[in-house]
Amino acid sequence: MSKICVIGTGYVGLSCGACLSSLGHNVTCVDINQDKIDLINRGEIPIMETGLKELVDEGRSKGLLSFTTDLKEGLASAEFIFLCLATPQSEDGSADLSTLMSSVKTIAAYLKPNAVVITKSTVPIGTFFDIEKVLQRPDVSLASNPEFVREGSAVQDFLHPDRIIVGATSEFVSQRVAAIYSGIDAPVLLTDPSSAEAIKHASNSFLAMKLSYINAIAVICELYGADVLDVSKGIGLDHRIGAEFLTPGPGWGGSCFPKDTNALLYMARSAGYKFGLLGEAIEVNNVVQKRIIERILSSLDESISGKRIAVWGLTFKANTDDLRDSPAIQIVSALLGLGAQIRCFDPTVRVIPPAIRQAEIVDSVESSCEGAELLLVLTEWSQFSQINPIAIAKKMTSKRIIDCRNILDPDTWSEAGFQYHGIGRSN
Ligand code: UDX
Repeated sequence: MSKICVIGTGYVGLSCGACLSSLGHNVTCVDINQDKIDLINRGEIPIMETGLKELVDEGRSKGLLSFTTDLKEGLASAEFIFLCLATPQSEDGSADLSTLMSSVKTIAAYLKPNAVVITKSTVPIGTFFDIEKVLQRPDVSLASNPEFVREGSAVQDFLHPDRIIVGATSEFVSQRVAAIYSGIDAPVLLTDPSSAEAIKHASNSFLAMKLSYINAIAVICELYGADVLDVSKGIGLDHRIGAEFLTPGPGWGGSCFPKDTNALLYMARSAGYKFGLLGEAIEVNNVVQKRIIERILSSLDESISGKRIAVWGLTFKANTDDLRDSPAIQIVSALLGLGAQIRCFDPTVRVIPPAIRQAEIVDSVESSCEGAELLLVLTEWSQFSQINPIAIAKKMTSKRIIDCRNILDPDTWSEAGFQYHGIGRSN
């Protein structure tokens, strides 16, 4: 088993560190945020991630997992160093690598000879060689080993992945990195560093394009009276297409797809290639939201100002508490701009996010609907599908629903007197 140091304890780093310790490795996680490290050391987990607390507790009790702000201590005997740092979007669409590169500069002095520095963060193609230049440690090797974990199911995705990708310039180094995952049953692809970096970008952009495709097909279904849920099922049964990532919604969001699609578009443009297909997928995503606003306007007789709207769900998808680049926040913000009075409920959000500070947050679905003329469902929390429409009907002044996740049963809600609209359906 190996001595591993994970740098960065965000969504990726924390789940990566905990999962690696569950495979039997000795892992030290380092972060510059003292408050976060103190919180984790008190036994708390700063993010909502199924199964993560159990793995962290187990790793710690076995003496295989520790957390510190002391980089020197973390790196002292580490054979493998995983870089799990944020690579946010810059104003021009490119990935901002300043945090990652400054971390590379800092660790250079503490790495032991023959260590392998592994990039897990999503980085532009070619970053491997930039890291090599900044590191200036010929006695240390580098590898690219992109992550493919989804928030909310990061532990499951890490321990049961579809594939493990390792990019390096030497077969020996690739094999050393692949051996870290010997406890996991998954195909391993060894490749060159740029291809490994490209695989990550190509995967995320493909999934985003797939989602934009089904969101565009949802529009066609609305225009021609077809039902996108059946259409999605029907096309997903073709194994060449596959059933996943074919659920239409209020557009894709989160901390990865928006920034990664823009980063790939930027890379293409910088190299003189017009990647129109990807640009259009991003544009479709913007149009989805505009259409939802138009649908709300038409449902409220073309006037939103002063109208009370109930919103269910603010996170960018269910089973996470992450609000970053959430379509729900963007839609609520647009409605507030049009003068709506909004009361939101989300099972994981207790404080109103700054971007929608004029909205109100309440602690139950019922109170969000008090006096509302319209109910807007924006995140697919499964508990919403269990809500009794009769109780909700009594709270609202007008019984109208726009269900942007198609999670409520149209018949049940229509029978309770609601005018129900889903996405991509004829009702
Ligand atoms: C994504 C990638 O899936 C993961 O492999 C990568 O490493 C990190 O980025 P994540 O951002 O956690 O994961 O969310 P994901 O589950 O992929 O969903 C992204 C967005 O697409 C969400 O807004 C979600 O609501 C939307 N989505 C997803 C749909 O609208 N329909 C679907 O069928 C699936």
